[in-house]
Amino acid sequence: MEMEIRALKIRKNAIIMAHNYQPLEIQALADVVGDSLELAVRAKEAKADLIVVCGVRFMAETAKILNPERKVVIPVPDAGCPLADFLTPEMIREAKERHPDAAVVVYVNSTAESKALADVTCTSANAVKVVASLKNDTILFGPDSNLAAYVQRELPEKTIIPLPPGGHCYVHTGFTLADVEAARRKGGMVVCHPECRPEIQEQADLVASTGGMVRGAAGGSEPWSVFTEREMVSRLRVLYPGRVFYEKPDAVCADMKKISLADLRRALEREEHEVVLSPEVMGRARRAIERMIAVGA
Ligand code: 13P
Ligand code: SF4
Repeated sequence: MEMEIRALKIRKNAIIMAHNYQPLEIQALADVVGDSLELAVRAKEAKADLIVVCGVRFMAETAKILNPERKVVIPVPDAGCPLADFLTPEMIREAKERHPDAAVVVYVNSTAESKALADVTCTSANAVKVVASLKNDTILFGPDSNLAAYVQRELPEKTIIPLPPGGHCYVHTGFTLADVEAARRKGGMVVCHPECRPEIQEQADLVASTGGMVRGAAGGSEPWSVFTEREMVSRLRVLYPGRVFYEKPDAVCADMKKISLADLRRALEREEHEVVLSPEVMGRARRAIERMIAVGA
């Protein structure tokens, strides 16, 4: 199967992009493995005829928005992100009416239609930098209320309004203070994603995006308890063999596990399932995403 996929990739002049949470056998076949921001930046630059995004739908949509001339496919079309579904365009319009002076910052874990209403998007790697770059005092920020709380803690001079108030990722909100205590007993550092609850962020030694974890782990030797999706630990173990990383076995994003090697082969062979978005939505969303990329990580 792996040989067939490699051959198809060459025949189709395709590039495979995989998120850090993808199964290791998919990561091993990918040309690019990274966090949401790294995948977006690389998708924008891609020259291949076909871009296959192994991740969840918003990642494939972001690739298409940034590189509309290319054919972008996602091997399993219903691989979604339940966090993204918390925010609707209607919520943004209503909040904007109530706070006309506020800027709208939309996390990339969102639909293309929500991004189209944003002043700027952000990822977990650059949320603080993006909000700090805005002159507005009030920021409407969605859909992740825990990332919003993280930005608020880092930038107390701003007023961050979470949109909607309870938007969250079920994988990251599964981490509890009992998990922190258990990790402390094992020793080493507690490293959490900013989608974890504020009380976990406060206890953690490092709060980072998945790409930030890859970079941060390069510098030390102590064990890490990693509070994010379980596959991140598989990736860290591949990158830093011999180093001790602890995962939480039930921290699994079901949507990130939908794509199999057979799906990837079919996606390359049949060039499906193509991401198709309205040109108007793409144009408006592109402005918001490119503004984020200009701010940097
Ligand atoms: P990263 O951008 O940190 O990879 O996060 C994406 C995500 O979906 C986290 O759950
Ligand atoms: Fe969405 Fe959470 Fe899965 Fe990330 S881990 S893709 S935020 S559901």
